[in-house]
Amino acid sequence: MAETRRAFVAGFPVTHSRSPLIHGTWLKAYGIDGSYEAVAVSPEAFESFATRLKKPGSRYCGGNITIPHKESAFRLADRLEPFAEECGAANTLWLEDGRLVAGNTDGYGFLGNLDQAAPGWEGRREAALVLGAGGASRAVVLALRDRGFSEVRVVNRTLDRARALADRFGSRVSPHGLDTLGEAMAGADIFVNTTSLGMDGSAAPEIDFSALAEGAVVTDIVYVPLRTPILKMAEKQGRRTIDGLGMLLHQAVPGFEKWFGVRPEVTPELRAAVIADMETHR
Ligand code: ATR
Repeated sequence: MAETRRAFVAGFPVTHSRSPLIHGTWLKAYGIDGSYEAVAVSPEAFESFATRLKKPGSRYCGGNITIPHKESAFRLADRLEPFAEECGAANTLWLEDGRLVAGNTDGYGFLGNLDQAAPGWEGRREAALVLGAGGASRAVVLALRDRGFSEVRVVNRTLDRARALADRFGSRVSPHGLDTLGEAMAGADIFVNTTSLGMDGSAAPEIDFSALAEGAVVTDIVYVPLRTPILKMAEKQGRRTIDGLGMLLHQAVPGFEKWFGVRPEVTPELRAAVIADMETHR
């Protein structure tokens, strides 16, 4: 009989992770003899956790990495997939011939969500606007660049952080200060929020989305709450909006396929299960 395949999500703390629910739902739906478990791994213990994965007889065939281990996973892997390498962070690990490979599926999840929720969202691919230049914005900026946008404009409160991203990701990525947000939005086919603006109880500054291209989409990578202050504002102005929960669901697809050999589907039922869980375990 084939061995049960096991995967994990390692974080610290890890109790809030929705990944066990997502992968557990898929394991059941596809009738796979496998498991996916949350493992609390402290920062001091992460290196030995990663080393044990490579040893024969390892309990796991791979897993997800969440805060605070994304950079360490990147550092400790034997091989990096190109997207993870350029991003400087990894969120998915798997074994290939005893070697630990690290990938980053956030960009895949970001695009997968938009492709499913709003096919054709790219418009003319002339310009995309990304608000924020922190860790979370990197995968989004890269994914948009790789999707073929002529220009990815990164707008950030601290201009130097936007500059650092532009320096790193090439000439199609341009840095802008928050004071020029209106100009930077001109003609953009997509507006992505990657900041926590308005989430800490403070009011989000009023944003006028009218300069975006006709039919442009507004999306947020934050999904708690589902309708963020920025999405609400955009909706009120008649813009098409897409919430960030789909990104979480889609970023799980490549890992599941690597570990369990089936490419899972992101269905309305899966989305509903995660929303129900968010409502009961805030
Ligand atoms: P993450 O890894 O989640 O992206 P981060 O690296 O702390 O977290 O980045 C948070 C992003 O939100 C940054 O772009 C930050 O702007 P700064 O680089 O200027 O700090 C942005 N951000 C957070 N609060 C903000 C606020 N009140 N106004 C404008 N930008 C804000």
